[in-house]
Amino acid sequence: MRSITLATLLALAFSAPVVAQTQAKGDAEAGKRLAYTCTGCHGITGYKNAYPNYHVPRISGQNYEYLVTALTAYQAGTRKHPTMSAQAQSLNEQDIANVAAYLSATPTP
Ligand code: HEC
Repeated sequence: MRSITLATLLALAFSAPVVAQTQAKGDAEAGKRLAYTCTGCHGITGYKNAYPNYHVPRISGQNYEYLVTALTAYQAGTRKHPTMSAQAQSLNEQDIANVAAYLSATPTP
């Protein structure tokens, strides 16, 4: 395996961080499709679910890291809430990044 040239290694070294950076924040376009389910509960005027009438937190326009932390905690079970744990468990790590990227870039209605 001596065929890898120095130029190839340099190219890899400089291109890898760029790729990592663009993926780190998630893909807002993909997140938009995922967020469609979320609006069933979160996208409601006054942030009350229609029925039963309980309070839901505002999630659009929230900080990206905050959203990732909250969803990861629901997923891991360190933050407990039956519906949100179920929601978070249906997402993988990339989904969480994507949906957080979308929500954090979406202005508060
Ligand atoms: C069935 C209704 C329902 C659905 C669907 C739902 N949520 Fe939630 N969500 C809630 C409720 C209720 C809470 C408050 C839970 C609590 O008190 O911990 C919550 C809390 C959250 C929080 C924490 C907010 C905060 O300020 O701490 C985030 C983030 C969140 N949801 C994101 C999402 C995302 C992303 C989706 C879609 C993948 C989603 N939710 C789908 C009902 C829902």
